[in-house]
Amino acid sequence: MKSITIIKPDDWHLHLRDGDLLEAVIFSSSHHFQRALVMPNLSPPITTVKMAEEYKNRICVANRSVLERIRPENINAFASFNPYMTLYLNSEMSSQELKRVSESPDVLAVKFYPAGATTNSTFGVSEFESYYRVFEQMEKLDIVLCVHGESINPEIDVFDREARFIEESFDPMTRRFPNLRVVFEHISTADAVNFVNDQNENVVASVTPQHLAYNRNNLLAGKLRPHKYCAPLLKKEADRSSLVHAVTADSNEKFFLGTDSAPHLIGEKESSCGCAGCFSAPYALAKYAEVFFAEGKLENLENFASLNGAKFYGLPINEEKLKLVQRNNIPKDFFMTEKGEKIVSFVHGETLDWQIVN
Ligand code: DOR
Ligand code: ZN
Repeated sequence: MKSITIIKPDDWHLHLRDGDLLEAVIFSSSHHFQRALVMPNLSPPITTVKMAEEYKNRICVANRSVLERIRPENINAFASFNPYMTLYLNSEMSSQELKRVSESPDVLAVKFYPAGATTNSTFGVSEFESYYRVFEQMEKLDIVLCVHGESINPEIDVFDREARFIEESFDPMTRRFPNLRVVFEHISTADAVNFVNDQNENVVASVTPQHLAYNRNNLLAGKLRPHKYCAPLLKKEADRSSLVHAVTADSNEKFFLGTDSAPHLIGEKESSCGCAGCFSAPYALAKYAEVFFAEGKLENLENFASLNGAKFYGLPINEEKLKLVQRNNIPKDFFMTEKGEKIVSFVHGETLDWQIVN
C-alpha cells in the first residue's frame, strides 16, 4: 500500500459561512488543515477588522463545540486549527481600516470580488481601476490582495472571462503596482498559469482540487453535475493539464493549495437556478493526492499543500504531520446541519483512491 506523510497542510482559500452551516462544515477543515484563509463573502460581507475578529471568534467557538461533541477525547489535536481572515474590498474602505489590517495578526489579506461574479458578490464594484487608490496604499503597507479574476462583462462568454480579466484588468494593474503582493485565486486556465509565471515573485496563485482533477466534460457531458459547478467554471482539458503541470513542477513556488471549498445546502445546488460553489473540504486532499500521484509527482505535494502558501504569507511552517494512504474509499453521501439539511460534496458518486489517516 502506497502512503505519504507530509507537513500538515493549510487551506489558503476557504468559505466557512456562519451559524448552522459553519457548524456543519468546520470539522471538515479543522480535521485536515492546520490553518486557513477564510473568505469574507457573508451577507453582509466582512468589511472591517472588528467584524473579521468577531467572525474568527465564531469560527473557533464553533470548532470547539463540534469537537466536544464528536471528538471529546481528542479535542486538542483539532482545536489548534487557526483561521486567518480577509476583508471584502469595497469603495468605502478607508486608509485607517487598511492601517488596522496591516497591524492585525488575524487579518492576512483583502479580497476583490467583481460585482455579481459569485455568491454574495453584489457588494463589489465592476471597475478594478476604481480601486487603484486602495492598491497604492496596500502596496505601501504590504497588504496582500486576493483576486477573483473574472470579467463580469455580460457580453463575454462565461468560459472566456478569466482570460479577459487578465488582459483588461490584471495585467495593467500588476504593471502599475509591481510591489503589491497579489494572489490570483482559484485559477482555471492555461492563460492564468502563463500570466502568473510571467510575473515577478509578488504574483502567485491558489489552485482548487476541482480545477486540477476535472475538466468541463466532468461537469456537463451526458449529465449535469451541480456539485461540480463553481465560479470560475471548469475549463477544457488543455487548461486542466496546464494547471497540473504548473502545480506539480519541481521548481513550483508560485502555486499553492486553496480549496475554495464553498458549501451550499443541497436545495441551493440541485435547483432550477443553482448556486456556484464546490464543497470540497472533506475530500480535497484526497483529490490533490490523486492528481499528484497520477502525474508521478507525489513527492511535490508537500511544497504545494504545506510550504509555498506559508512562505508567501510570511508564516512559519507547521510542525504537525499528516499521513495519506492509497486506499479505495467511498465518500459520505452528504453532511448535515443540526436542522437536518444536507450538504453534498463535489466528489459525490465517485470512489476515491486516497484517504487521510488521523
Ligand atoms: O463557486 C464559487 N463559490 N466561487 C466563488 O468565488 C465563491 C463561492 C461561494 O462563496 O459560494
Ligand atoms: Zn472562493
